Amino acid sequence: MKKILILNGPNLNLLGKREPGIYGARGFEDYYEELRARYAEKVELDYFQSNIEGELINKIHEVGFSWDGIVLNAGAYTHTSIALQDAIRGVKTPVVEVHISNVHQREEFRHHSMISCACVGVICGFGLDSYRLGIEALLNLPASTL
Ligand code: DQA
Repeated sequence: MKKILILNGPNLNLLGKREPGIYGARGFEDYYEELRARYAEKVELDYFQSNIEGELINKIHEVGFSWDGIVLNAGAYTHTSIALQDAIRGVKTPVVEVHISNVHQREEFRHHSMISCACVGVICGFGLDSYRLGIEALLNLPASTL
């Protein structure tokens, strides 16, 4: 079974309560249970969320040499964190960058990502379904990458 980590950054613990007009009314834990059930036969999924940049980096280091993929929503650190970019570059596990909202339809400062250049690809704008699409993208990577 493939091992894939879903890694959520700052403020994503507030999904369901936070700006529901942008991020929707569903909490992540509820959606995560649906994802686990969907991939139960195929993928060993794990989930980690932190509001702290260094904890996200530690988690990337922890799984980044043995797991098969990381679906990363780095929240606002997407737009600021060279340290996260370096962490992604520093490990072997492929990382897919995901966003719930279409960041390109939003404020100018959300148009640039510091981490995209280190990721295998980017998915944004499909609501919570962006995470499922991220898993699918990882599962469809050529065997040499995954
Ligand atoms: C986000 C978009 C970011 O710009 C924002 O800071 C977030 C969530 C998204 O999933 O749409 O926290 O990553």
